[in-house]
Amino acid sequence: MPTMSGLDETARAIVADGKGILAADETVSTITKRLTARAIESTAERRRAYREMLFSTPDLAAFIGGVILQDETIRQDSSTGIPLIELLAGRGIIPGIKVDAGVHPLAGAPGEFVAEGLDGLRGRLEEYRELGARFAKWRAVFIIRDDGLPTAKCIHANAHALARYAALCQEQGLVPIVEPEVLMEGAHALERCEDVTGRVLQAVFNELFDARVSLEGMLLKPNMITPGQGRAGQASVQEVAEATLRALTRHVPPAVPGVVFLSGGQDPVLATQHLNAINALDGPKPWKLSFSYGRALQDEALEVWRGRREHVLAAQQAFHHRAWCDSAAALGRYSGDMEGEAGFAHPDSTLHAPH
Ligand code: 13P
Repeated sequence: MPTMSGLDETARAIVADGKGILAADETVSTITKRLTARAIESTAERRRAYREMLFSTPDLAAFIGGVILQDETIRQDSSTGIPLIELLAGRGIIPGIKVDAGVHPLAGAPGEFVAEGLDGLRGRLEEYRELGARFAKWRAVFIIRDDGLPTAKCIHANAHALARYAALCQEQGLVPIVEPEVLMEGAHALERCEDVTGRVLQAVFNELFDARVSLEGMLLKPNMITPGQGRAGQASVQEVAEATLRALTRHVPPAVPGVVFLSGGQDPVLATQHLNAINALDGPKPWKLSFSYGRALQDEALEVWRGRREHVLAAQQAFHHRAWCDSAAALGRYSGDMEGEAGFAHPDSTLHAPH
């Protein structure tokens, strides 16, 4: 099958050397939970101000190749009156959009979920493309449980939906980010996560092949291979890195230009260390190995911001610092010493402080 050159270029640009993705596509309900947990009221204006604070961080384009938005944000304007999506594009950051309609209980598979949103997707993609989006994201989730979850049925249903979504994206000129997330919930061993993730990735690439998706024009967004969050005695950074690279080597074709990991609830520094360790491993790594973090990129900045205009510059410094560290990790050049260094130079210069 021929490649689709515009899509290939966009996919490669998003993960150009040292660049990754900021996932800022929390739904209104998810971002509301994160804001209210910090005693910040969640209004449309607050959510807009929060996203503008992130997007207008100085020098962001050195570390961030793409930002994933969601439906509310893609229609909002910055405080200077230009659409937020244009603010990003004007800074050389490629805008993308979350297009799944969330996960819903999968009939006939108790305790499991399927990501929905295929109905009417072609028209929605067309509209998002007109609004300026250049890539899209669809997230499926898989739960590990001792009684046999995930089932083959759940893996198949979600892999099939991911492939239909990806094919539609490419038809509409958008790069699909294919996100099969094996959740960290539970007390399972690292080996179990490796086995399940391998089965999921294999099923996803089988379906992508059958759906005639061009691998060169997509990005994969998987979980890293870790033990469950509730497991006593966590794995070392090296063990996580080795298992993650092993799973990718076995199940991800080299034609895929980039693998951008989700953070999945990992501590921000640990997510940086894991990414760095994966990139520092010897052995063939035919894809760019980078990040598409939500919480691990935003948590420190959100903690500092707390909804206050006077905290914008300090929050931007926290965000800049984490993006700088993750960018170094995407090149295998991160070191713990970087944690003590400051973010961008200076708060009282002429930096634009949005309100
Ligand atoms: P986390 O990095 O917080 O897991 O979010 C990434 C994401 O986009 C989940 O869909």
